[in-house]
Amino acid sequence: MATLTVHALDAGYGARRILADLDLAVSPGDITAIVGANACGKSTLLRCMARLLRPSAGRVVLDGRSVRDVPTRELARQLGLLPQTPVAPDGITVADLVSHGRHPHQGLLSRWTVADDRAVAAALDATRTTDLADREVDQLSGGQRQRVWIAMALAQETDILLLDEPTTFLDIAHQVDILDLLVDLNRARGTTIVMVLHDLNLAARYADQLVAMRGGVVHAAGAPETVLTETMVREVFGVACRIMPDPTSGKPMMLPLGRHSGTRDRAAEVIAS
Ligand SMILES: Nc1ncnc2c1ncn2[C@@H]1O[C@H](COP(=O)(O)OP(=O)(O)O)[C@@H](O)[C@H]1O
Ligand SMILES: [Mg+2]
Repeated sequence: MATLTVHALDAGYGARRILADLDLAVSPGDITAIVGANACGKSTLLRCMARLLRPSAGRVVLDGRSVRDVPTRELARQLGLLPQTPVAPDGITVADLVSHGRHPHQGLLSRWTVADDRAVAAALDATRTTDLADREVDQLSGGQRQRVWIAMALAQETDILLLDEPTTFLDIAHQVDILDLLVDLNRARGTTIVMVLHDLNLAARYADQLVAMRGGVVHAAGAPETVLTETMVREVFGVACRIMPDPTSGKPMMLPLGRHSGTRDRAAEVIAS
């Protein structure tokens, strides 16, 4: 199983530096959730990890080797990225899109094999999209489309899967559904998962490691119990909150306090405390 680490990473766009001296270690077989305010650099970090963006300094290391030195096809067999806003070619069917996940596995002659068929069928099955196989991707609902993109990533059969906001824009049922599916994959195949999530409570419940980013650096990383604190939420999101144990999992659960939380007096008291 592959270990992924990031050392002293600097990256940005043109002269604009976004990530500054960022360090992060992802243990093989773990689920890591990255949280942080909009524009703090989460997608930029995932792009560097997947070698889609070249860092200006520092390194991304996969199993002791800088990803820069890993041949492209080999990297694509080890590490897959589902971007924040993936774009499907016009008119492509679900089956064809998911089949694209097999490209890194095909030899020089690009011959489609029984193993490819099997991987595509398994990916459709795991994401419950088999019935959609002949439909056009553009004609699906948001939840269906997201499951199809995940199917494509699954068909790639990588050791590491990076997912940029896989649950954003989905209703709560579909959010939980996608996260459960990723846990199934993690348990069944030991796939290492790194995902950007916005829901802090789901992140704390599903992640082995919770990473809070702020202004292009890792502000805190570790077990959700140590990372999801009132101080972190204030420092990273500028939001006052209360933390209490999730009654089912015992993981920390965050309740944001707006200016109008609860009764007027009680909210003012809590915020002032
Ligand atoms: N392709 C790009 N070109 C220029 N600036 C970009 C590009 N992508 C992102 N940025 C900028 O980099 C910063 C971090 O973006 P991003 O990594 O997407 O943040 P996050 O995913 O945490 O919301 C933002 O200010 C964003 O506007
Ligand atoms: Mg992003």
